[in-house]
Amino acid sequence: MIQILYNAIILEHLDNPRNAGAMPDATVRGSATNPVCGDLLHLYLKLANEQIIAASFEAQSCPPCIAAASLLTVMLIAQSITAAQQLKPNDLKQALGGLPRNKEHCAHLALDALRDALAQTA
Ligand code: FES
Repeated sequence: MIQILYNAIILEHLDNPRNAGAMPDATVRGSATNPVCGDLLHLYLKLANEQIIAASFEAQSCPPCIAAASLLTVMLIAQSITAAQQLKPNDLKQALGGLPRNKEHCAHLALDALRDALAQTA
């Protein structure tokens, strides 16, 4: 059933989530929750010289949210903080190969956690 709902990119990140887990020595942490579905996401970033050198996540969430967080960490590592600030939910949706309409807000949750983390760099 889950194969019918989600594309190959999402399924691959669900099978093999990247950078999952807390990062005790993170420079900044961001969190976001969606009060409607109850999903909760924590994002951890390690920063050096205006760059993201490591990223990880913890999620209590639906499958596409886990895939979105996993892929977002991959997209963030080695990015400049400035480039990360430019990321939009649509960039993540496209990188995921699309999301089911009723799961599009999962990409927004991931970007909300990113914005929360980056707000601490200001
Ligand atoms: Fe709500 Fe994933 S179902 S963020």
